[in-house]
Amino acid sequence: MQTNVVKQLNQKMQVVMQTARAQVLAKMGTHLTVAEKTSRRDLVTNVDHSNEDFLVRQIRALDPVAKILAEEGTGDQVTDMNGHVWIVDPIDGTMNFVHQRNHFAMMVGLYVDGKPTLGYIFDVMANKLYAGGPEVGVTLNGELLAAPADVDLSAGLFGASAPLLIQDRFNMQTIIAKSLGPRIMGSAGIQISQVLAGELVGYLSYLRPWDFAAGRVLAESLGLVVSRVDGNPVNMLSSGAVLIATKRAQRSILAIV
Ligand code: IPD
Ligand code: CA
Ligand code: CA
Ligand code: CA
Repeated sequence: MQTNVVKQLNQKMQVVMQTARAQVLAKMGTHLTVAEKTSRRDLVTNVDHSNEDFLVRQIRALDPVAKILAEEGTGDQVTDMNGHVWIVDPIDGTMNFVHQRNHFAMMVGLYVDGKPTLGYIFDVMANKLYAGGPEVGVTLNGELLAAPADVDLSAGLFGASAPLLIQDRFNMQTIIAKSLGPRIMGSAGIQISQVLAGELVGYLSYLRPWDFAAGRVLAESLGLVVSRVDGNPVNMLSSGAVLIATKRAQRSILAIV
């Protein structure tokens, strides 16, 4: 895609995200319909559905030939990353959305022939929109975001995931012991945004494509690294443990895992 086309799309998508946020905030004042998907810890609400419907419709209007992979199933069956592929998580941290009315995000990522191109993470209640990509830079609420310092694991806070920590998968407890301490938010989007902002040196969690699609675009644009726990590249159409970190923290973590 030409840079000016990416720039225009980036501006339009930021408007879409702002509209989506306003709609989600308005719905928070009304009765929520909450359903269990696979367990009592895996929830979906009417707002997840309505926001996904809205985002998918807006993306289709902006990019009619694109394929859209969306968590709640509104999009397409996407089997390869050829062409334009948008990946949508309408509410990330649904458990927080339901029980805290706080600490949840909306996320959208665009890949063109597999190349990370545009990403959006909107921390709805903090009103922080991280937006952009490798060609246009990354902004936080419209202001250019500087790349975070390349801080090592021993000098920073580490974004953990509760299941991996409890089960000590990937030597999570040793990783944390080496860091300044763990932080757990219950929203991949918010934890990844904290890595973007330099508040965490890394985040490791078992993630599905929509949990890290936007974050990967933004993180790599800021010189952070996104990989599997063996250091191999991530696959955007499969789920697994994903590490998003500074270069130095990644090196330390891969040596522990
Ligand atoms: C979940 C959150 C959570 C992470 C889970 C995700 P959802 O997303 O990001 O922090 O640990 O793996 O599934 O289902 O609320 O969009
Ligand atoms: Ca979910
Ligand atoms: Ca979700
Ligand atoms: Ca999610």
